[in-house]
Amino acid sequence: MPSGLKDQSLLSLATLNKSQILNLFERASEIKNKKKSGQLNPNNSHKTVAIVFFEPSTRTRGSFQFAGFNLGLNVYSQYFDASTSLIKGESEEDTIQNVIALGPDVLVVRYNESHTLDKSLDKFKIPVVSGGGGSKGHPTQALGDLFTLWLEEKNIEKQKFLLVGDVGHSRVAASHIELLTKFGIELGFCGPDEWMTPELKKKGRLFSLEEGLKWCTLCMPLRIQWERHEDRDTSRWNNQDLYFEHFGVNAQNIKLLKGPLMSPGPINFGWEMSYEIRDHEKCRVLEQVENGVFMRTAILAEILGLKL
Ligand code: CP
Repeated sequence: MPSGLKDQSLLSLATLNKSQILNLFERASEIKNKKKSGQLNPNNSHKTVAIVFFEPSTRTRGSFQFAGFNLGLNVYSQYFDASTSLIKGESEEDTIQNVIALGPDVLVVRYNESHTLDKSLDKFKIPVVSGGGGSKGHPTQALGDLFTLWLEEKNIEKQKFLLVGDVGHSRVAASHIELLTKFGIELGFCGPDEWMTPELKKKGRLFSLEEGLKWCTLCMPLRIQWERHEDRDTSRWNNQDLYFEHFGVNAQNIKLLKGPLMSPGPINFGWEMSYEIRDHEKCRVLEQVENGVFMRTAILAEILGLKL
């Protein structure tokens, strides 16, 4: 089954079904194999991807750029900070309208909590891909992470996925919950109770870290999203030792974990995990980054209808 993404936007995972997602995994895998064997040399210099970020990023913005390079596209990539006309009062929506007027064929956008953009992103005249929107979702991150798991374990329906930490404020968690539910993957959560919403508690089981690590087949610790909190200074969890004692993965408790440990990054070592975990045999963090490029390459290729 085709992915159904030709000329379409990808702002959430709502419109993708299981077969379309598996098709994207197959496509990303083919692209990865071609790249590794030096057979990925397309020239699509008549097409341009514009990457417009209103929030900081290392992995997502870079991986969309590298996805563009993989496809032989022209790549325009800009972090819109105070050095752009935002400083003169131009809105995010007007900024996007003007970038689209420059002539790209597809747009990737990251934005913060913006009700205006939420309403307008699907109305632009070219396809728009979310590179992360506020705390609502980060669909390409979730797809890249599940692709990383799928490369190791094709029977993904049987997995038990534990999200640890600030699940309630995390857009990665929001997209993972949406994605994993489509596959019937069991969900578990572990983190400060005050950051778990009642809706979340209906979607998965709650665990202590030790119980959760014994139960799951994949563990994903999440960064505390302080920028989306209103209570950083008053939260009792704004205490690294206390947080790490309850929710930190370390060289001892990782032994309880049967499968891989992933993180969407960035990681605050000493909070959600100890530094030594970075080099642990179960840690897949850099594989996620690498595979994220191939997943985004597949997504852009599908949207633009490119043959590789
Ligand atoms: N995972 C992720 O979104 O990382 P960046 O913020 O660096 O893009």
